[in-house]
Amino acid sequence: MTSRVIPVAPFVLVVFGATGDLARRKLLPALFHRDIDGQIPDEATVIGVSRGPFTEEQYIALAKTAINEHVAAGDITEENLAKFLGRLHYLSADADRDGGWDELKAALQPYQDRITVFYLATGPELFGPICERIKKFGLDGENARVVVEKPIGKTLESARKVNDAVGAVFPEDRVYRIDHYLGKEAVQNLMALRFANGLFEPLWNAAHIDHVQITVAESLGVEGRAGYYDTAGALRDMVQNHILQLVCLVAMEPPALLDADAVRDEKLKVLRALKPISDALSTHTVVRGQYRAGASSGGAVPGYLEELGADTSTTETFVAIKAEILNWRWAGVPFFLRTGKRLAERVSEIVIAFRPIPHSVFDGAAGPIAANRLVIRLQPDEGVKLWLMTKDPGPGGMRLREVPLDMSFADAFGTRNPDAYERLVLDVVRGNQTLFMRRDEVEAAWTWIDPILTAWTNSDERPKPYTAGTWGPSAAIALIERDGRTWLDGGT
Ligand code: BG6
Repeated sequence: MTSRVIPVAPFVLVVFGATGDLARRKLLPALFHRDIDGQIPDEATVIGVSRGPFTEEQYIALAKTAINEHVAAGDITEENLAKFLGRLHYLSADADRDGGWDELKAALQPYQDRITVFYLATGPELFGPICERIKKFGLDGENARVVVEKPIGKTLESARKVNDAVGAVFPEDRVYRIDHYLGKEAVQNLMALRFANGLFEPLWNAAHIDHVQITVAESLGVEGRAGYYDTAGALRDMVQNHILQLVCLVAMEPPALLDADAVRDEKLKVLRALKPISDALSTHTVVRGQYRAGASSGGAVPGYLEELGADTSTTETFVAIKAEILNWRWAGVPFFLRTGKRLAERVSEIVIAFRPIPHSVFDGAAGPIAANRLVIRLQPDEGVKLWLMTKDPGPGGMRLREVPLDMSFADAFGTRNPDAYERLVLDVVRGNQTLFMRRDEVEAAWTWIDPILTAWTNSDERPKPYTAGTWGPSAAIALIERDGRTWLDGGT
């Protein structure tokens, strides 16, 4: 059980792409968890839609398998599963033709007064056609809202087209662009940490912070998603959205209130203040890599090309960037960003590295004095650590030691950490857009990313190889060390 549960209003959720990976791995388990926690009212209904010619019974069987695979066995009982499955319906409809839409319209008829959420768990090429039909069949009434998943486009231009197509049907205040990192518990805690404590804000600037590191490292490879991934790469898949959103939350000015537009206005300012990267081919600024065969979790693993089943590909599975924010608060404070597949461990962390003390009163025997750092751990083991220098206990001379003030959320609160989708799906029902990306944010992020992509496309250089199970290409280590800093590899 999570700690406090406030039920939402009755809703109908229409999931396009209802048999796909996202629906099975994330949406159905998330809804199930909210249901067993008592947050979903009895009248709420879910209609799965896909092209496949499933019967309702077959769809419910698929959903049952998905829940059994992706929810801890201890959370499932025959009774709660039956109750949840009883909410599900299925319809076959085409995204880009009219087949099945009359049936969908008829199925929604009884729910006209309810909040209706159209969740597009499909590729972005279908967002426009689906929205067009939502309008054509008169399903875009005031209670309707739409949720779209990343990737929103592949470049600034294509992102604009997707946004135009969705925006032609739904006004911005009814469009919910998901970035699931914003739904992560520890990411929201970053806002609590910054804005509910007086301690940090006076220090949160270039006068006191030396640099920031953001690492989102995965130990898995591309798994069954090589087809999609090869058209995306780490920069589009992780940096354009998740990592830049983390940069925004670290760097933004305090909003006047926790209102969706107040928060998003501040994030937008950060994105617009990012220094354009004009030298993306210089390894002083950007390093891209691709994994070769190696070892992970003790076992041999294939390289990216083997997983892809291709002889060649220039898609990056790793990227490290030295980013800079050109404003008063952050001028001169580098933000080192990195993400990759098949790295040494799965760990996502934000490290705020403070400046060293200006003068030491201790003699050499006290040992080195490390600068303070605040580490926000997003996963696994969500929590916050503040590294401080203390006296090594015991008699004798003054020796100093670095020790963390360590708060693990699991220990502090003893509750299950809900998956990001649990919060985000219900935020859509609540009509709260704070944790969703506004159109101008998405486009500002692409504006920064586009020149890097263009430089790569126009160059013959290939991503630098790295062995699976390591921390990426050595050039990524040089990128930060050249600046006199060091990646804090998971050992923070
Ligand atoms: C997704 C990416 O958005 O985020 C995946 O498409 C990546 O490639 C995933 O694995 C990481 O999410 P999480 O929540 O496991 O950190």
